[in-house]
Amino acid sequence: DRPRFIAEALADPAGRSEEKAGETVVIDFSSPNIAKHLAYHHLLSTVIGWSLVRIFRHLGYRTVGINHLGDWGTTHGKLLAAFQRWGEGLDLSTDGVTKLNELYVRYNKEGDDAEAREWFRRMEAGDEEALGRWRKFREVSLAEFRQVYDLLGVEFDEIRGESAFTGAMEGVIRRLTEAGLTTISEGALVVDLSDLGITPFFLRKADGATVYATRDLAAAIHRFETYGFSRCLYVVDRGQSLHFRQLFEVLRRMGFPWAPRMEHVPFGVVLFGGEKTGARKGNVVLLKEVLAEAIARVREIIDRKNPDLADRDRVARQVGIGAIVFAYLSASRNRDVDFVWERVTSFDGHTGPYIQYTHARAASILRKAGGAPPTADFRLLALEEEWAIAKLIAAFPERIRAAAREAEPCLVAQHLLALCEAFSRYYNLGNEDPSRKVLAPDPALAGARLALVAGVREALATGLHLLGIEAPEEM
Ligand code: ARG
Repeated sequence: DRPRFIAEALADPAGRSEEKAGETVVIDFSSPNIAKHLAYHHLLSTVIGWSLVRIFRHLGYRTVGINHLGDWGTTHGKLLAAFQRWGEGLDLSTDGVTKLNELYVRYNKEGDDAEAREWFRRMEAGDEEALGRWRKFREVSLAEFRQVYDLLGVEFDEIRGESAFTGAMEGVIRRLTEAGLTTISEGALVVDLSDLGITPFFLRKADGATVYATRDLAAAIHRFETYGFSRCLYVVDRGQSLHFRQLFEVLRRMGFPWAPRMEHVPFGVVLFGGEKTGARKGNVVLLKEVLAEAIARVREIIDRKNPDLADRDRVARQVGIGAIVFAYLSASRNRDVDFVWERVTSFDGHTGPYIQYTHARAASILRKAGGAPPTADFRLLALEEEWAIAKLIAAFPERIRAAAREAEPCLVAQHLLALCEAFSRYYNLGNEDPSRKVLAPDPALAGARLALVAGVREALATGLHLLGIEAPEEM
């Protein structure tokens, strides 16, 4: 019964649902290290994590997006020691992160480990002089990260960071020790995992300093106690796969029934024309340059295609950013992305601008027709091309659920591409054969076709939103 199927598909092309209301998903994403520039993998984590936040929200979940800043550890002891030696009078209000990073690099060459350890010990002991400086470094770094988050429209529910868990270290270690899970290895406290054939999980160094892993244990417990999640995702590059395997295994051995709800969401690397991007330049700068370039390229295409468009600056910005975000999200996240300019900003091809353009085209048809009629006779949609579109719209909600299940935004992205292709085929038919134009002479037929176009528009707008991309009405 095609007409009924089409009516049902078009009743809710966005596939919004409350089916998961009451369930909570925690998403750890972005999570860069302070006093360093954002690295490319943090950028990818930001884009993937933000899309996941939107996808889960769309399905009715309560989402908790957490930026687990790397703001604690012996690295920061080095930084304080370096600042003590060479930081006097350093103005961190401009290019602060670059300057801090330079101090750190210099300390690694000329500094002294014992001195750095002593500064970190002071931090862990709550020494105000040490903490005051550290706070400043954190602030300067966050201000820089915020520039990227603002450009991409990303928000967090919590910016907490490793430093928030220093107070919980002793309790966690005691718990592990009492459960008989710890052993001493060359002076360090570890959980032996050799029965799984993997290296031990380090909890405390021989000098007493706590580490990343211990703080992740405390953070996981805190997350469960605070939010009672049904899933807890870590959007972190696949280089940390072993860490997460160890982390989840140790939580399981500690007897937490929720340990199986933890998931590592790994991803590959971004290459530019086959090459890895260095983090040296600072990826905030790099990202700004990349975005500026994307916006300029898009602007040039718009000037050519649609010179009368109002608000060209805003649209070029939305489409330029959309091009970059889509390039990151359109391929399966565990695959490496090779970023080639022409392939990213083109208005046709597997790109964000192509989807945005198709959306704008559907919006323009609807605008010209004064919208779709409130009711339509779907028996009139007899073309195979129309049927193909209806099937894709009907399948969209399940694709969104699959994207959530697999934590794979690319499933949404790829579905949008398929829908755009089906729509373009349909639309081009009308150019060849006037009887197949959306705005057919018969008002009932035109009405049914407009309802279909409205469904396409809504599905595309929704999908773009789920990827963290804007959907301009005109471009
Ligand atoms: N700060 C870490 C890094 O840059 C990533 C943290 C990921 N989140 C976590 N809970 N471990 O490598």
